[in-house]
Amino acid sequence: MTVNWSQDLEIGVEKIDRQHRAFFEQRDKFLNACTKLLEEEGDSKTTRDEIDELFYFLTDYFKTHFDDEEELLEEKEYPYYEQHQKRHRKFISEIQEIKYEFLQSEEIDIDLLHNLEEKITDWFVNHIAKEDKKIAEYL
Ligand SMILES: [Fe+2]
Ligand SMILES: [Fe+2]
Repeated sequence: MTVNWSQDLEIGVEKIDRQHRAFFEQRDKFLNACTKLLEEEGDSKTTRDEIDELFYFLTDYFKTHFDDEEELLEEKEYPYYEQHQKRHRKFISEIQEIKYEFLQSEEIDIDLLHNLEEKITDWFVNHIAKEDKKIAEYL
């Protein structure tokens, strides 16, 4: 699925927008590595490195993003705060599960790659572009 970054996705808070953009860029790098692997132009070592980087990003950088975003929601008394926080937590735990499965397998599991691809694209399309965008109305 082709998804492009556009300024419409910004909520107007520099730090949060920068973090969302970083997510988009990380997703792009990961998808490129997957495409190359599937078209047999890439090797599994490069793809594995990209996946490792993506996991590191999602569990480290993006955890900080969730904390920053939740702090903003609290400060602005965002009415759907709890619901929003639950989604963040669910996403992290789903990623942890995939990461765990991924680390168990020696060969790259293509189904797992697809699953990860779907998850992060869905996050971008349905969370960042919709749920997070809604925050802008309350700033
Ligand atoms: Fe966000
Ligand atoms: Fe969010």
